[in-house]
Amino acid sequence: MVQAIVINEPGGPEVLKPTPVEVSAPGKGQVRLRQTVIGVNFHDCYVRSGLYKTLELPGIPGLEAVGVVEEAGPGVTGFKPGDRVGYMTRTYGGYAQARVIDADLLVRLPDALDDRTVGATLLRGLTAHMLVRQVFPVRAGHVILVHAAAGGVGRLVCQWAKHLGATVIGTVGSEEKAKIAAASGCDHTILYRTENFVDRVRAITGGRGVDVAYDSVGQDTFLGSLQSLALRGHLVNFGQSSGPIAPFSISLLFDKSSTISRPAVFHYFTGEGRDTMARELFSALEDGIITADHHHDYAFADAAQAHRDLEARKTNGAVLLIA
Ligand SMILES: NC(=O)c1ccc[n+]([C@@H]2O[C@H](COP(=O)([O-])OP(=O)(O)OC[C@H]3O[C@@H](n4cnc5c(N)ncnc54)[C@H](OP(=O)(O)O)[C@@H]3O)[C@@H](O)[C@H]2O)c1
Repeated sequence: MVQAIVINEPGGPEVLKPTPVEVSAPGKGQVRLRQTVIGVNFHDCYVRSGLYKTLELPGIPGLEAVGVVEEAGPGVTGFKPGDRVGYMTRTYGGYAQARVIDADLLVRLPDALDDRTVGATLLRGLTAHMLVRQVFPVRAGHVILVHAAAGGVGRLVCQWAKHLGATVIGTVGSEEKAKIAAASGCDHTILYRTENFVDRVRAITGGRGVDVAYDSVGQDTFLGSLQSLALRGHLVNFGQSSGPIAPFSISLLFDKSSTISRPAVFHYFTGEGRDTMARELFSALEDGIITADHHHDYAFADAAQAHRDLEARKTNGAVLLIA
């Protein structure tokens, strides 16, 4: 028996109760994993509260973790007991000290990166990879706009894009965050709660606008992001931290031949792309192109407290459960 956090019914953090569960032997194509570090994401709070009804209850939440392979099932050739691995999955089950999981969801961890570094970076780092290397590949000379530039994904996007040679404009919610954004490669920071970011972008770019806007804020920034684009610029909306985007007329794109995408990392971190993304993410971490977020570590049994702190915005950086 191992401990898992099982949600029986939606509710507040108190519904996250450690519960003994049996972990079966791995089936065909699966491994049994002893988990060490489990990533806690805002998505998990929505699943817990019932806002997202994507986890069948009773069920174990959690999208990402790292750990060590304990046993490989029949047909598994790529992994053996003792291998250090990480994964990200849309089918949950992450909040457990051990679990069975499909081997083709796993990526091998390099020796140079410890479990907490990877645990703090996997989902957000892969999202940053999707954004700057795949959805809109950033090149030297590009001018880019990154909202919530001091946030988990935002900070990594700024670091990576700066390394690729872009001029980076970042919006942030406070002076303190402006310092984090500047230290993460932003050439210009905008306090978007008090400044009109569209005007500032226009001034910074001499009226041209940006080649791409990476927007995870959604409702509050969407139209301004569109207005901030250069001719044939691209808007990547990849989140809605401020709320869902209202319906809009597609003819808004006609003015500047703008394009928009709405990518999800799980659609990129799949098949043959999975190993390439992980390899490039881990190389970027090893080479110091990007740096892991500061992390808040909680004991596995304190998952409820981790959710309380995350929802109260008391944390700044990654939130981890140490199994
Ligand atoms: N599409 C995908 O595949 C994918 C994958 C991973 C994450 N995401 C999304 O990417 C976004 C960033 O994720 P993250 O984990 O790195 O979070 P984060 O950026 O560290 O946190 C969200 C930030 O959004 C800003 N914000 C603006 N308005 C807000 C509001 N009304 N309430 C809360 N925050 C607000 C805040 O920064 P300021 O104080 O600077 O405004 C806040 O720190 C999230 O929306 C997430 O859902 C999408």
